[in-house]
Amino acid sequence: MRIENYREAFLNYLEKNILVKEPENLYQPIDYIMSLGGKRMRPVLALMSCDLFGGDFYEAMEAALSVEMFHNFTLIHDDIMDSADLRRGKQTVHSKWDLNTAILSGDALMIQSNQRLEHYEGTTFKKLISLYNKTALEVCEGQQLDIDFERMLDVPMNAYIKMISFKTAVLVGASMKMGAIVAKASSKDQNKIYDFGLNLGIAFQLQDDFLDTFGSEDFGKRIGGDIVESKKTFLYIKALELADSEDKIKLLDLYSGAHNEDEKISEVKAIFIKYGIPELLQDEIQRFTLKAFNDIESLSLDKLKKAVLKDFGMSLMKRKT
Ligand code: IPE
Ligand code: IPE
Ligand code: MG
Ligand code: MG
Ligand code: MG
Repeated sequence: MRIENYREAFLNYLEKNILVKEPENLYQPIDYIMSLGGKRMRPVLALMSCDLFGGDFYEAMEAALSVEMFHNFTLIHDDIMDSADLRRGKQTVHSKWDLNTAILSGDALMIQSNQRLEHYEGTTFKKLISLYNKTALEVCEGQQLDIDFERMLDVPMNAYIKMISFKTAVLVGASMKMGAIVAKASSKDQNKIYDFGLNLGIAFQLQDDFLDTFGSEDFGKRIGGDIVESKKTFLYIKALELADSEDKIKLLDLYSGAHNEDEKISEVKAIFIKYGIPELLQDEIQRFTLKAFNDIESLSLDKLKKAVLKDFGMSLMKRKT
């Protein structure tokens, strides 16, 4: 089946399952963020994985909804933490409503996401819930590291990779593993598909960091937002490594003192470009995508099914949103 079909099936299911109850100020923001669009990558991966391992992908629908709800919960709180006003081309929840509303509706959405797993029984339920809880806690750890790094000037590249693995990639891996659990795939396949998702997720967050600085308006978030927030990304870490001492001092100053936002963005961008960092980042995205492709080899799937996974990985590298 094609990616578009999984997405369509998921969107149909989603439409029937989002209800606005009282109090409206708790549930309306949930409906708002869940209906705002987005690529629906994680639920698509959960359904796809279930299907590829011979399960009825409809059985994975509640797990797919659970991961998409969890993802949207993280976005509501992430936008508070990153002082972001724009999400999917629209206002973020905390800027449309207010901080308290965003905190609480985020909490409620996370609980709803957890509730979705009540649908499953026996060992399937047990496996899903423990993977979910482990992943959710890791996402918190990754998000905390991301925030801690804002105040550090020197972040080692391996610490950055660990941070993005936790805040982003583990959920991509878990989405795929959940599909495999529902399909009752072998534990070897469950673990391998998790590794595939993990490496793909790292490539995905690297690409997100690239688009945050070099993307177009289609990206749906403020271009340069990471620079304004002094986020430690591959771009910054690599630039510090390669810049001459004059540019290094300039970059360190831009990331420590108070600066006009637009000036900071354009000066930092110029340094990144001068040292060819965007190209190096593209190489790194490719390296992790190829690592993910390597994980596909040992899966007990036929060639055609492996090709579906590869196609998905290739399409992610070309994404603009
Ligand atoms: C945004 O995720 C947050 C990151 C982990 C980079 P997506 O890029 O999947 O966001 P949507 O759901 O498609 O809007
Ligand atoms: C996303 O990191 C991680 C989570 C939401 C858990 P970002 O802060 O880079 O995500 P965007 O760019 O705001 O979507
Ligand atoms: Mg953010
Ligand atoms: Mg963030
Ligand atoms: Mg980002």
